[in-house]
Amino acid sequence: MSFKSDLRWSDVTPKSLYLNRRQIMTGAAALSAASLTAPAWAASEFSTDEAPNTFEEISGYNNYYEFGTSKEDPAANAGSLTTKPWSVVVDGLVDKPGTYDLGDLLSGLTVEERIYRFRCVEAWSMIIPWQGIQLSNLLTKLGPQPGAKFVAFETLVRPEEMIGQQMGILEWPYREGLRMDEAMHPLTLMATGLYDRDLPNQNGAPIRLVTPWKYGFKSIKSIVRISFVADMPPTTWNMMAANEYGFYANVNPEVDHPRWSQASERRIGAGLLAGRQDTLMFNGYADQVASLYSGMDLAANY
Ligand code: MTE
Repeated sequence: MSFKSDLRWSDVTPKSLYLNRRQIMTGAAALSAASLTAPAWAASEFSTDEAPNTFEEISGYNNYYEFGTSKEDPAANAGSLTTKPWSVVVDGLVDKPGTYDLGDLLSGLTVEERIYRFRCVEAWSMIIPWQGIQLSNLLTKLGPQPGAKFVAFETLVRPEEMIGQQMGILEWPYREGLRMDEAMHPLTLMATGLYDRDLPNQNGAPIRLVTPWKYGFKSIKSIVRISFVADMPPTTWNMMAANEYGFYANVNPEVDHPRWSQASERRIGAGLLAGRQDTLMFNGYADQVASLYSGMDLAANY
């Protein structure tokens, strides 16, 4: 996924232009006899039509505690991370366990382009144009066994390159997990790029999870282990403060964080005059995902 300078996104590319560019690219790809994979942009049904945040906003205001706790630390400190070569351990209740080179892990899988709303638990939000693999396609390729009810993920531990890991800010590795039906949901991506560039290190290079209906802390970065497990796995923020951060972490304006309201959000880059906006149930993805939680008490399963 190399960056093509002639197709550089303007910082303010409206979606109409973006889609037009994709159509041009798709047309060009269709003319190429060598192009055997389906065009990668069956994405529109999943994408929001809100204008994306700028590349500078998306890569300059991050949470990535392996590189420090302030929003500017990841951009300042993540340059030290080596992301090539990169391998991912696949283990647990799965037909094809092993240690995979990232290229081998993803080979044969279609890269999708999707513009997702992103909502951090700290009540700010962005709109991010991702490139990534639908996680369901990767999991299917690996062959989940019937006993696998959850998927667990771990981030790299490499304190010599991750300055925050030299401090006991969190219990490393950063861990996250999804119920199998959440992991198999078509909205769930393994992102490998944004704005047609490889992922910046501070955004979780070379591969990170994106679950747009959940608070941002579920979207674990720089993944080195994928485990298929029978039981709900431990997750970093839940281990830190179980009363504040649940396993599900679905965006829910009706269930407040114990220390602040979750009813509204501040869109990064919108400016002070824009004010706050109402947060939408499941971050606006209720039509697609609410059925995953039917019958569950969302105040108890936060
Ligand atoms: N993954 C790891 N490994 N370490 C982290 O500190 N922070 C999480 C999540 N994934 C985090 C992580 C939180 S709190 C948020 S809001 C998002 O990453 C931020 O993702 P972004 O930088 O792409 O906006």
